[in-house]
Amino acid sequence: MTEDYRAINRANWDERAPAHAASSDYSVEQFVSDPSFLSQVVTFDVPRLGDLTGVRGLHLQCHIGTDTISLSRLGATMTGLDFSPASLAEARRLAERVGADVDFVESDAYDAVDALGAGEFDLVFTGIGALCWLPDVRRWAHTVADLLRPGGRLFLREGHPMLWALDEERTDVLAVGYPYFEVPDALVFDSGGTYVETDVVFANNLGYSWNHGLGEIVTSLLAAGMELTALEEHDSVPWDALPGQMRRDGPLGEWRLTDRPERLAASYTLQAVKRG
Ligand SMILES: C[S@@+](CC[C@H](N)C(=O)[O-])C[C@H]1O[C@@H](n2cnc3c(N)ncnc32)[C@H](O)[C@@H]1O
Repeated sequence: MTEDYRAINRANWDERAPAHAASSDYSVEQFVSDPSFLSQVVTFDVPRLGDLTGVRGLHLQCHIGTDTISLSRLGATMTGLDFSPASLAEARRLAERVGADVDFVESDAYDAVDALGAGEFDLVFTGIGALCWLPDVRRWAHTVADLLRPGGRLFLREGHPMLWALDEERTDVLAVGYPYFEVPDALVFDSGGTYVETDVVFANNLGYSWNHGLGEIVTSLLAAGMELTALEEHDSVPWDALPGQMRRDGPLGEWRLTDRPERLAASYTLQAVKRG
C-alpha cells in the first residue's frame, strides 16, 4: 500500500471542495435561503434517523458540511470531522452563513479518537463515499466503537460494495471489474472529473481507494463491540454512479439503474449500537 495515499487523496479533495460548494448539486444557496432545508442525503435518512433532539453527533468525513448542518437542523449537537482543510473551510463558511452551531475538526478518520476523545458521542453518522477512502475497515470499525458511548449508535448509509466493484466504463452491461473484497493494494485512479455538475478543470486527479465487502463491514463492527440493529439494501444512490446506465427518479431524486433496477443493490443503510 502506498504510504502517501492520504496526501494524494487530500489534494484531490481539497481541490474539489470549492467546486462542490459552488455546484447546484450541493444546494448551498438553498441552505441559506431556507432554514428548514435538508441535504438530499439526510432527507433520505430522515425516516430511519428517529428523533435527534439533544443527541451529540459526529459526522465522520463530513466534506463541506451539508449533511452535518442538516443533522444539526434536526436537533443534534453536531461535530464534523474531515482531513481536507479546504472542505472544512467551506463547511465553516456555510455554518456561519446559516447560523448553525457546528464544530468542524481537521483530522484523519483513523485519528478521530485522538482529536475528539473516546466515548464522547451518542451518534456517529457517516457514508456516501466515505469508507472507500480508508484501507482497513477493521481499523475504521474500532475507531467508530471508541468514539461512541456505550449504547451509542452508528448510522451508515454507503455505496454498496457490489456497486463499487462494477466497471463504470462498461455501459453495455453490468461488468464486475474491481475487487468486491478488501485487498491491500489500492485501486488507483486518475480521473479529471467529479460527481457533481461543474465546469472546473482539476489538476489533482490521482486517487487511492479500497472496497470493503458487506460481510467484512458487518464482521468488523461485531468484532469492535457493536451490535447490528438494522441492515437495509437499496436499489438507489444519491449520485450518478454508473453514467449512461442510471436514471434519476422518485421524490428523493435518487439514481437507480434505468433497466431493471432490481438487479443491483446500489447502497445500504446499516445501523449498529455499541454494546454497553
Ligand atoms: C464524498 S465525501 C463524503 C461526505 C458526504 N457524503 C458528502 O458527500 O458531503 C468524502 C470525504 O471524505 C474525506 N476523506 C477522505 N479520506 C479521509 C481520511 N483518511 N480521513 C478523513 N477524511 C477523509 C474527504 O476529504 C471528503 O471530504
